[in-house]
Amino acid sequence: MNVLLGVSGSVAAYRAADLARELMRSGHTVRTCLTDSAQKFVTPALFEALTSEPCLIDAFEEPERGRMAHIDWAKWADVLVIAPATANTIAKLAYGVADDMLSTVAVASSAPLVVAPAMNPAMYGSESNQAALKILATKAVSIVEPIDGDVACGDHGQGKLATIAEIAKAVEVVLTRKQSLKGKRVLITSGPTQEPIDDVRFLTNKSSGKMGAAIARAALLMGAEVVVIAGPSSAAYPLSANVVRVRTAEEMLTQALHFAPTADLIIGAAAVADYRPEVKVAGKLRRKEATMSLQLVANPDVIAEVAKKNRSKKIIGFAAEPSTDLSEAQAKLARKGLHAIAVNDVSNHTIGFDSEENELQLIFASGETSQSGHQSKLGCALWLLESVSD
Ligand SMILES: Cc1cc2nc3c(=O)[nH]c(=O)nc-3n(C[C@H](O)[C@H](O)[C@H](O)COP(=O)(O)O)c2cc1C
Repeated sequence: MNVLLGVSGSVAAYRAADLARELMRSGHTVRTCLTDSAQKFVTPALFEALTSEPCLIDAFEEPERGRMAHIDWAKWADVLVIAPATANTIAKLAYGVADDMLSTVAVASSAPLVVAPAMNPAMYGSESNQAALKILATKAVSIVEPIDGDVACGDHGQGKLATIAEIAKAVEVVLTRKQSLKGKRVLITSGPTQEPIDDVRFLTNKSSGKMGAAIARAALLMGAEVVVIAGPSSAAYPLSANVVRVRTAEEMLTQALHFAPTADLIIGAAAVADYRPEVKVAGKLRRKEATMSLQLVANPDVIAEVAKKNRSKKIIGFAAEPSTDLSEAQAKLARKGLHAIAVNDVSNHTIGFDSEENELQLIFASGETSQSGHQSKLGCALWLLESVSD
């Protein structure tokens, strides 16, 4: 595999040479990017000699004339590992600052990122550094935490670069994950649906689409090809997913039935409206009486219909439950003929709808259950896909 090793300006930069060797011993090809500050500690010549590959610093350096190296290298990399990562580089990664070769490649690359911080304990624990690390964690960056110990300036605390073995192991975990859904197609329904009452009003629900977007991102990180059938929401779906926009439950069903036969794994994360107005009024309904009734008719059950027509497929549903009682979810799993159902406790306001975090309980048709624990939606999504893939 192709590993792009980024080295930033920490005293621990010299240890990146050992990491490069260790990664090569595992059979990887290693190219290096140094920041300007890293060059105060180590040289490109060291890494070029060790890896027999070029080492770049400046985004305007072009080993092949006329080719943009930052784009070529971003596409070349199967994984990006930044070790040691300074507080400055971590903050840049969190916000997408791209002012040198390393940070520009990081923004341009869709490869998974492993970050191993190294710095003075006060810098590591600072509010700004912790906030930046939190942002990286929500982007599924794998953070190899620094160790407690004596740091170069004489202070003691958490800040020493993790061991080379730990960093190399994190790279292997990320690379293995990247292979786990390689060649597979994952179909995801996501977000709410909107059921029109008239030309300006509709019935909908609180789904933000964030869980579906997280599942799409996780599936891509695991090497899958991804189709998302997305109801209206402002959720940010990954650019490399094929996102098909729909509005109503009926539109969602049409698209789901279209894509399901070519999918290997189907995840129904959308909150599809159970009912829709029987009649959609043209124009705008006017205020008249003190009360008015809206006649509703049942919508198709998207995931159940997909399951009925695709019996051999592995299909995972979602259930938003207002309590910890699982009996409804268990009945839903059996009634719809699903492989498993992921249950969200929507009575817990720290998780679920519109939150950045979630906690899932997975119930399999076999009766087995497992819990994700409270984590980012992306963390839950990776856990879910790992739990249901073979
Ligand atoms: C001797 C020395 C050692 C340093 N060690 C670290 C360090 O371990 N971690 C860190 O975050 N910054 C460290 N710094 C500060 C960074 O080098 C500085 O913030 C720099 O701007 C980082 O740039 P870069 O992220 O582009 O490499 C050190 C600075 C000096 C002068």
